[in-house]
Amino acid sequence: MDMTICVVWLVLAIISIAAVVSKSSKRSNASDSVVTRPPPPVVTGIDLLKFLHALCRKDPEAAMMYLYNKLGSIFTLSFLWKRVTILIGHEASIPFFHGLESDVSQGNFNEFTVPMFGKENGYAVEYATRIEQSRFFYDSLKASQLRSHVDLIRQEVEEYFAKWGDEGEVDLKQEFTKLLMLIAGRCLLGSEVRDTIFGEFYTLFADIEEGVNLFSYMFPYMPVPVNNRRDRAQMKLTSIVSEIVRSRKRCNRVEDDMLQRLIDSRYKDGRPTTEGEVSGMIIGLIFAGKHTSTITASWTGACLLTHPKFLGAAVEEQKQMMSKYKDNIDYNILSEMEILHSCIKEAGRMYPAAPVLLRKTLKEISVQTREGGEYGIPKGTTLAHLVMLTGKVPHTYKDPEVYDPDRFRVGREEDKIGGKLSYTIFGAGRHACAGESFAFMQIKIIWSHLLRNFDLKLTSPFPKQDWSKFIIEPKGKVMVSYKRCRMPAN
Ligand code: HEM
Repeated sequence: MDMTICVVWLVLAIISIAAVVSKSSKRSNASDSVVTRPPPPVVTGIDLLKFLHALCRKDPEAAMMYLYNKLGSIFTLSFLWKRVTILIGHEASIPFFHGLESDVSQGNFNEFTVPMFGKENGYAVEYATRIEQSRFFYDSLKASQLRSHVDLIRQEVEEYFAKWGDEGEVDLKQEFTKLLMLIAGRCLLGSEVRDTIFGEFYTLFADIEEGVNLFSYMFPYMPVPVNNRRDRAQMKLTSIVSEIVRSRKRCNRVEDDMLQRLIDSRYKDGRPTTEGEVSGMIIGLIFAGKHTSTITASWTGACLLTHPKFLGAAVEEQKQMMSKYKDNIDYNILSEMEILHSCIKEAGRMYPAAPVLLRKTLKEISVQTREGGEYGIPKGTTLAHLVMLTGKVPHTYKDPEVYDPDRFRVGREEDKIGGKLSYTIFGAGRHACAGESFAFMQIKIIWSHLLRNFDLKLTSPFPKQDWSKFIIEPKGKVMVSYKRCRMPAN
């Protein structure tokens, strides 16, 4: 599909998705509550035309930036009967991330995940249960639990790259897709799947992922082939995981993986998790982490390999790590890799995998802006926080279009100066990403291995963002030539 059509389609799609999934609230709006503050500016007339023109010529980010420069950090886009209020930057996004669930909710925007993860968890269950299941994720993925995963990830990474030749050319995106699935197999699912039926799991999981497309998002229960394949894969995966859970319980076998932590999790009333819940949660975790990490690792590569200054600094840091710790890598050593950390973080700022986050107002809320305005947003409004522009506002980030990992280092820390919600690629607040530390850990282990063992060059042009995708990835292949070149450990 032509890029321009994709871009226009994507933005119209976001608005119409909001219309379809929120149709239950059609009758609400201002009639249900008295809006006492003025509403945000609505994009109309010449601004709307210029917005659509920018959309056709460039991409959604540039089109939204045009509106931000014109109208400020909050404005409303209207499409048919639906209104979506756009929020950009720290100040305007406070109620989005920190409002009460009874005021600002995730609504049913994630309904499409129900057939993917099953009916016993996530968005299929009531809010109180979902919150408890989120707690299981956070507990299982906290730093103290992650330490033991470093060696497992490292083992996967070393085995994977040992299969590369002495020199050659690869598509980094494809390589990371495979490798991150192997890591998920090892750390999240555990040895039963990783060592025996990984191929089958990989194929079934791909069928579930295929269910992430615009049509399935809008009509998740329509019996079309892609949805049917997704449903069959979900049932088969649930039965595989359930059998593993049963077998571990039968033999009193306890493993050190995420699956085990979910098996051992308990609700507040003491109830243990069921096989169906564990199965849905583990599929959900793999889904949440695999593609997003692949994308961020790929952008990190594209950025590093086109910025010799930062590539040099990251290589130098690895040399220092090796002279200090030889080949050892543990959680603390990873934490010392600050330059690599900021290179990954900066790639995420410039190219967020999830550039837009959605919520719905369940009551009238008030939003204050950096510009000093205060607006009332009626009940039933769709809110869209733009991660992609929050990471680009010039009052927070100096020269935001420039790849400059140093902006996060001590002395500058632009994301902190700008406020807690200035860096939202992992979300924030109640629904913040549970896997942020895990994501950094795996991407750092991968890139520290690559920098220590290969001389790499980007051979394809610097990728554009693929706005036709649901999770925004580098468009096309990210081709890299490699030559083995072991860094000396002294
Ligand atoms: C670079 C990689 C990643 C990015 C960019 C990312 C991004 C995000 C974002 C933006 C959200 C919030 C969504 C919202 O507010 O609506 C989120 C939530 C979540 N992420 Fe990640 N993520 C990444 C990796 C991971 C990994 C590796 C895991 C698990 C292994 C994970 C697990 C989760 C979970 C469980 C949630 C839901 C939290 C909740 O609502 O309770 N993520 N992620």
